[in-house]
Amino acid sequence: MKFSTVIALCAFALPALGANEANIRLLPSEESPVIVKEIYGQFAEHLGTCIYGGLWVGEDSPIPNTRGYRTDVLNALKELKIPVLRWPGGCFADEYHWMDGIGPRESRPRMVNNNWGGTVEDNSFGTHDFFDLCEILGCEPYLSGNVGSGSVEELAKWVEYITAEDGPMANLRKQNGREKPWHLKYLGVGNESWGCGGNFRPEYYADVYRRYQTYCRNYDGNKLYKIASGASDYDYNWTDVMMRNARNQMDGISLHYYTVLGWSGRKGSAIDFTPEDYYWTLGKCLEIKDVVKRHCDIMDKYDPKKRIGLLVDEWGTWWDEEPGTISGHLYQQNSMRDAMVAALSLNVFHRFTDRVKMTNIAQIANVLQSMVLTKGDKMVLTPTYYVFKMYLPHQDAKLIPLNVATPMIRARDGRQVPVVDATASVKDGKTALSLVNTDLNEPAEITIDLSGISAKNITGEILTSQKITDYNDFDHPQTISLQPFTKGWKVSKGKLIVTLPAKSIVTLSLS
Ligand code: AHR
Repeated sequence: MKFSTVIALCAFALPALGANEANIRLLPSEESPVIVKEIYGQFAEHLGTCIYGGLWVGEDSPIPNTRGYRTDVLNALKELKIPVLRWPGGCFADEYHWMDGIGPRESRPRMVNNNWGGTVEDNSFGTHDFFDLCEILGCEPYLSGNVGSGSVEELAKWVEYITAEDGPMANLRKQNGREKPWHLKYLGVGNESWGCGGNFRPEYYADVYRRYQTYCRNYDGNKLYKIASGASDYDYNWTDVMMRNARNQMDGISLHYYTVLGWSGRKGSAIDFTPEDYYWTLGKCLEIKDVVKRHCDIMDKYDPKKRIGLLVDEWGTWWDEEPGTISGHLYQQNSMRDAMVAALSLNVFHRFTDRVKMTNIAQIANVLQSMVLTKGDKMVLTPTYYVFKMYLPHQDAKLIPLNVATPMIRARDGRQVPVVDATASVKDGKTALSLVNTDLNEPAEITIDLSGISAKNITGEILTSQKITDYNDFDHPQTISLQPFTKGWKVSKGKLIVTLPAKSIVTLSLS
């Protein structure tokens, strides 16, 4: 497959560029927003082996665990400084009855997980276990409430059970071993209410949302941030109707966007793909920029002061399930291509951080574009995990806007993929600059106009692989891992020139 390159439209005058030469201009500004750390949120659903086997094995398991949570997974996740974790779904949330997941484990009712393979759920992981996990990881809990098959009373009581100091629900919680209420900020009122969450039309859901949220009270100093179930992809009408009819009752509205070939039929292999498939994937991933922009434009119309957050609370790649795994469990491998999708998506979210107040990649373990994969007592870190690790300096750092002038690669379906993409931020006197070279074959020489930013000390990390289809598995857990990036740059006359290997992601720290 041959791909032609073109020069990207850019916001500043270009010197003549070679095929893989790019220019970046950093535009530091006091007025820039902070990249909210919640952009690095995660999502854990009762789906396949995300919870059971991935996060939770129970206290009696031979797999080393801390109060039932896998110790290896906990240690890996702690490194990512996860700011927020969404649970219990996804589609599962609208069939979940929280009272089935409290009290003695042996007397909890079982249920069929209708959305995900018909697996029997024994409710052994419930509210107490989730909040305990969030405390261990040091992250904010984000609950998805059941609207589709639940009741107003059920959701209202869940909030009371979790956050009230006294009263019947608080007493029940105390009987179950938790004296003090938990802190709960993020509350989702339904999930994908246009689909698995009830097949609502937006006008009707807006009214249902208004009713449900009324009874979700702020107890004893706890303050809820109420999130309406939002659109999928290109459904701009959903956002418009919700903003028109329920904006005064919401703090946030969600958006789901998956990098996926389509919703019916095959989605393609996670590890067996062509260069053409690769570039198409990046083009589809980057389309999120236009999608987010259009949803933001609608929100701006109703909420010009940006009080209401747009929460991309499900995103990532969605491939065919790995052969030999249980149908409906969405277990997929994770290659260097997925790492590229993670980096490019995070770069987009940074740009919209004045409106995008949270994102949650789907999902944290063993499902879709996960951080870790587990099998028995084994665990591997995925290439996507390493992107989240190398992007840590951007959490809660001040965004440095930038312009990129780059050659473009033409992909299938008329999509355009930049050879070079970048994001930058500053915190505690250190500038973090993340650079991506999407080209499968050629290095990119990037000239960065530092605009006075100090670069006396530079350190770096790189994520790359021999082949774009490379991945980590249980026999080869280290095929892809973060490596120091110690050469490949020079500073001259206020410009930083970096040579980025083909298909690589680099984060530089400048001070
Ligand atoms: O993340 C998997 C599923 O994708 C979620 O349960 C649902 O909300 C979405 O369709």
